[in-house]
Amino acid sequence: MKPPVLVTKRIYPEAIAYLREHTELDYAESDDGMAAEELARRIRGKQAVVSQLTDKFTPEVLATLDGIRVIANVAVGYDNIDVPAATRHGILVTHTPDVLTDTTADFAFTLLLAAARRVVEGHHYVHSGQWTKWRVDLLVGQDVHHRTLGIFGMGRIGQAVARRAKGFAMRVIYHDARPAPEVVESELGLQLVGPEQLLRESDFVSLHVPLTPDTHHLIGARELAMMKPTAVLVNTSRGPVVDEAALAEALERRVIAGAGIDVFEREPRVEPGLLKLENVVLAPHIASASVDTRRKMSMMAAENAVAALEGRRPPNLLNPEAWAGRG
Ligand code: DGY
Repeated sequence: MKPPVLVTKRIYPEAIAYLREHTELDYAESDDGMAAEELARRIRGKQAVVSQLTDKFTPEVLATLDGIRVIANVAVGYDNIDVPAATRHGILVTHTPDVLTDTTADFAFTLLLAAARRVVEGHHYVHSGQWTKWRVDLLVGQDVHHRTLGIFGMGRIGQAVARRAKGFAMRVIYHDARPAPEVVESELGLQLVGPEQLLRESDFVSLHVPLTPDTHHLIGARELAMMKPTAVLVNTSRGPVVDEAALAEALERRVIAGAGIDVFEREPRVEPGLLKLENVVLAPHIASASVDTRRKMSMMAAENAVAALEGRRPPNLLNPEAWAGRG
């Protein structure tokens, strides 16, 4: 008998083929996701669930998951799962780090450049036939090279963004509760600063923190007011790290010059104030969305689930405490 597994949403086919080989699969081959009741119904009798960031595993939901041995999230972020509660129930939780680091950093830089150099405004200008003559100050933006980049969160993705900034001869300052290792600081030329100094001195602020109670609304009206009026904010982390209404207001009043935003507080809803603005570049949570990376994430989650079901320690385990004693 193969162990029964639920996949809550569409993932790449090679991951499904692998799961079919090793498990008894219940596959929700749709992009809709499941309402809480359907999730509860279909998860019954399963031993593993391959989940996505839209599936919410609150302490209440976790308390009902009899028989589930592992939740394998197809994402590096795992704020949709209450990991301490999962640990209390002995449920392993895994995620998909590393494979998306460079892809996500590429996209953070894409948003930074697009917002600084007004790429989307330029596209609309040409596309709509408004371009009738060359003008010395047509769509002038901010230089990126030799400017200061401030990074909140110097983990894997923060470091990959800093590495890209080196190529643009930028000064990189950062803030993190856990400073980067000295060797990383010196390789990337990083300077650890306090959050206020980061906000005041940066021409670009890029967010690479996980969503936790401490980082909820890390950037709000007060922080935006500390930034330079020429500054650009980039968010590829999680929507609630930024107070979206405060951001819309700051952009409208030109408290800061622009923003590149990939993640939102109530996805897929976007603060209506942002939709009216030209000085923001918006994307639908696609920072890790390259074909190769999304394939790798799907496969990694499948492998994590199968490892746990076969009694092997999953490679990308978030709660080793839940594993203790099994190995
Ligand atoms: C993640 O992995 O956490 C991204 O936000 C989704 O790919």
